[in-house]
Amino acid sequence: MGKVQILEHPLLQHKLARLRDKNTGVKEFREVVGEIAALMCYEATRNLPTEEVEIETPVSVAKVRVLAGKKLAIVPILRAGLGMVDSMIALIPSAKIGHIGLYRDPETHLPVQYYCKMPPDISERQVFVVDPMLATGGSVVAAIDILKKEYGCKYITLLNILAAPEGVQAVAEAHPDVDIIVTAVDEKLNDHKYIVPGLGDAGDRIFGTK
Ligand code: PRP
Ligand code: URA
Repeated sequence: MGKVQILEHPLLQHKLARLRDKNTGVKEFREVVGEIAALMCYEATRNLPTEEVEIETPVSVAKVRVLAGKKLAIVPILRAGLGMVDSMIALIPSAKIGHIGLYRDPETHLPVQYYCKMPPDISERQVFVVDPMLATGGSVVAAIDILKKEYGCKYITLLNILAAPEGVQAVAEAHPDVDIIVTAVDEKLNDHKYIVPGLGDAGDRIFGTK
């Protein structure tokens, strides 16, 4: 089973509380999703390899450390994953972005694919799959299936703001090589497969569609 890292940082927990509050409006919700994604990106990149190089400062030569190793890619699951991309790209501007469009069928709760476009060299990149919500895990498992089977991706980390135990379990079973980074794992799913207590429908709250 991959590592499940729950980020307990006070800033993240405070911001997550803003997302949970039903009185938080679209503008603030969208901004806070971005802020959380930036802090999660900071943690997700903590162990990236670096190498020493020499540069000239205005004063002398300095030995400095710069990122080395695999190039990076961010793959948001549409729609809600889009809310996490801009603030991550601000931190890692050379990352390429792939998109996977999936929505949950309202009756079956199973993911339906409607879009997929990846950078050509995605198989060699360290991929961060991003989606605010990991509920049943159906969408994320399907997205990672596509990345592995159709694009040959080998290095995948999952960033979800909020998860249900069922989703964590589903990813661990289907993709035991994938580490998961979350800010909280909630109690359960309800009969409509929404996370409880959760924060509602992330896509609707980011884009104001309800
Ligand atoms: C939400 C969410 C995840 C998915 C999680 O998307 O953003 O992608 O549900 O549920 P799961 O773990 O049970 O698959 P949704 O299907 O509502 O689509 P949207 O982002 O377009 O609103
Ligand atoms: N998708 C959401 O946006 N919220 C949930 O609670 C479950 C799935």
